[in-house]
Amino acid sequence: DAVDRTAADIVERVVRAGPAANPGRSAGSTPVLGLATGSTPVGTYRELARRHREDGLSFARCRAFLLDEYIGLSKTAEQSYFSFIRQNFVDHVDLDDAAVFSPDGDADDIASEAQRYDAAIAAAGGIDVQILGIGTDGHIGFNEPGSSLRSRTRVKTLTEQTRVDNARFFDSPEDVPHHVLTQGLGTIDEARHLVLIATGESKAEAVAAAVEGPLTAFCPASTIQWHPHATVLLDEGAASSL
Ligand code: GLP
Repeated sequence: DAVDRTAADIVERVVRAGPAANPGRSAGSTPVLGLATGSTPVGTYRELARRHREDGLSFARCRAFLLDEYIGLSKTAEQSYFSFIRQNFVDHVDLDDAAVFSPDGDADDIASEAQRYDAAIAAAGGIDVQILGIGTDGHIGFNEPGSSLRSRTRVKTLTEQTRVDNARFFDSPEDVPHHVLTQGLGTIDEARHLVLIATGESKAEAVAAAVEGPLTAFCPASTIQWHPHATVLLDEGAASSL
């Protein structure tokens, strides 16, 4: 609960103050949120929705960009990340559906879609605060180990480990797509504030590698070490190998 509240505090500050507080952002520009999917940030989204209902926290001025999407699923498919973020966040606050952007995993020309998405983030003025989870293999977004440190939004192939980890969201493990579109490590690095959240012992090794290990493409989350403004929020389990 404390992790959820702390992450929500960080997002709330950006939403209420607007991005003008950030260097390079002009007064009057709209706050741009970077949203992660997966189970980890669900409590943060729930807490933000509670603040919307009870404290009048409004997201009406915000825009939001998702980190990644499965290839071969339409936006409206139940397991798409776009559907996930609607069900777990957007439908519970006053953020307009039209202000929520995700890479289109069903696009005819996937390579162009990746470039278009990267450009759309830049055109929005960049991301003010990016929520990140972490995979058990150290991935962020869907940047699997071996991802280029300066990579842009592009196609990636999921490792078997990630497909197994994410199988719980699908009817059967074979249904988990093999390919995804994901913001690159270079794209993520351009967000003005990174907030990496991890809970539970299953994340302990990945967290230790990301925070205390070498900065390496073999642990994509280790790129947070060279970001000028990164916050890591952990419970005791996730922190247990530090
Ligand atoms: C997926 C997502 C990541 C997320 C990771 C961890 O692979 N692409 O953005 O961080 O899962 O998920 P969970 O929070 O469910 O452990």
